Amino acid sequence: MRVLHVCTEIYPLLKTGGLADVAGALPAAQSKTGCDARVLVPGFPALRAGILDQELVTELAPAFGAETLRLYRGTLPDTGVAAYVIDAPNLYDRPGNPYADAANQAYPDNFQRFALLGRMAARLAEGLDPSWQPQVVHAHDWHAGLAPAYLKAAEQSTGRKLAASVQTIHNLAYQGNFPSHVFGYLGLPAHFFDINGVEFHGQVSFLKAGLFFADKISTVSPTYAREIQDSEQGCGLDGLLRTRAADLAGILNGVDDAVWNPATDPLIAKHYDMRNAGDKPGGKLACKTALQQEAGLAIQDAAPLFCVVSRLTEQKGLHLVLADLPLIVQRGGQIMLLGAGDAPLEAAFRAAAAAHPQSVAVRIGYDEQLAHRLIAGADVILVPSRFEPCGLTQLYGLKYGTLPLVRKVGGLADTVVDASIENLGEELATGLVFDSFDDAGMGAALRRAFALYQREADWKQVQERGMRQQFGWDAAATHYLALYRQIATDQ
Ligand code: ADP
Ligand code: GLC
Repeated sequence: MRVLHVCTEIYPLLKTGGLADVAGALPAAQSKTGCDARVLVPGFPALRAGILDQELVTELAPAFGAETLRLYRGTLPDTGVAAYVIDAPNLYDRPGNPYADAANQAYPDNFQRFALLGRMAARLAEGLDPSWQPQVVHAHDWHAGLAPAYLKAAEQSTGRKLAASVQTIHNLAYQGNFPSHVFGYLGLPAHFFDINGVEFHGQVSFLKAGLFFADKISTVSPTYAREIQDSEQGCGLDGLLRTRAADLAGILNGVDDAVWNPATDPLIAKHYDMRNAGDKPGGKLACKTALQQEAGLAIQDAAPLFCVVSRLTEQKGLHLVLADLPLIVQRGGQIMLLGAGDAPLEAAFRAAAAAHPQSVAVRIGYDEQLAHRLIAGADVILVPSRFEPCGLTQLYGLKYGTLPLVRKVGGLADTVVDASIENLGEELATGLVFDSFDDAGMGAALRRAFALYQREADWKQVQERGMRQQFGWDAAATHYLALYRQIATDQ
């Protein structure tokens, strides 16, 4: 099966969130199952610089505002997955964040930058690289949402289906909506600007295009697949998603064991595994002590150490962490946050750290290596999201014996089992789960975390069970392959 993943970020070359982790791991996992999975990415500086052995496939006429336009083919480092890179320097060669300028304003020409991505995916299906054409184009998030639309347009004009398509929703809240006048620049048939097409409340919506035109839709957990069919979490697209329910699958993300594994992780103070995570002294305790030292926290193994590794946005529910900070501090706990995003949240966390230097540490910024040290060194990882399509940090927490304390929503609900009395008794618990999205809801879960921490044997049991969970990418790779088989024309 020949599959082209169309995406904008790939770990370890370029990452702003979980999408990069998925794009780095899924094609590689699929390749191991005999699938010929490749990726297509815009030529952002980090991708142009990091993709190996790039060879020119073809030079194209300027389009979508690109002054020069070339397609290269190379390979991703570590995994060897083949990668097509769109070289259009005036569109993509900009420093920093791939979507926004230094003031965090979305680039005004984003519609062209990402229309070009979708169009190039369709052109690969049309035969742009004579040596390889995808049978399935797999579009990730709104940036790739026009790929299924361009494929449909080509199908309508030639009467031939070039490739089947899948649109994956990593986050329905980001839709790529633009004023209607941009439609004229996209080169799509006029009748596509319609409620049965790319039109969404008078605008052009890239994500809606993908959801409408793709043969199949997937999202990154079964619970989120259900939630987005309701108005509360549907972000205005629930109606469309309900009409496409038969084509909508929820496939849980995995964890890349080569990157996140406490037994081999080169970024942590000492290695450990599920047989000795709870030992004192042991590898995990060494990681905790090192982290307390690095963060300037009091060095106390008896103090439960909570952590957050997150984008600081409304989605992540971190105002609950701020509201419940006094509870953590008063009970003798510690907390360390690593994150970047909304300025008011950054300021509030900085202020909390200044007020409680012995028990609250805050690092504002994006630091992949510190993320590993935090997740290894903490006792609990907090993920109190308002909504969460899948969530990866709770999975990393499980693997590292760092109990996830999560809100019961989306992929968090699918991956963590609460340490209730019943679940402890039935040997099912892997973390702490709360439902009610308010300080009291999270506060109750925090109090239970403190209580469980006192009961060392129970804690250890929950920790070990979490570490035993299997969240590899093989299962997801198999599910996606089954999805492709339903739609691929020639197999
Ligand atoms: P989302 O994609 O919504 O941000 P996920 O939990 O799926 O949430 O993925 C987030 C990814 O980004 C994880 O790999 C996490 O470790 C990483 N991450 C988030 N914030 C930071 C940060 N400030 N520094 C380093 N890594 C971060
Ligand atoms: C999105 C979601 C997150 C998910 C990630 C990877 O960024 O917010 O929940 O884990 O994509 O699929």
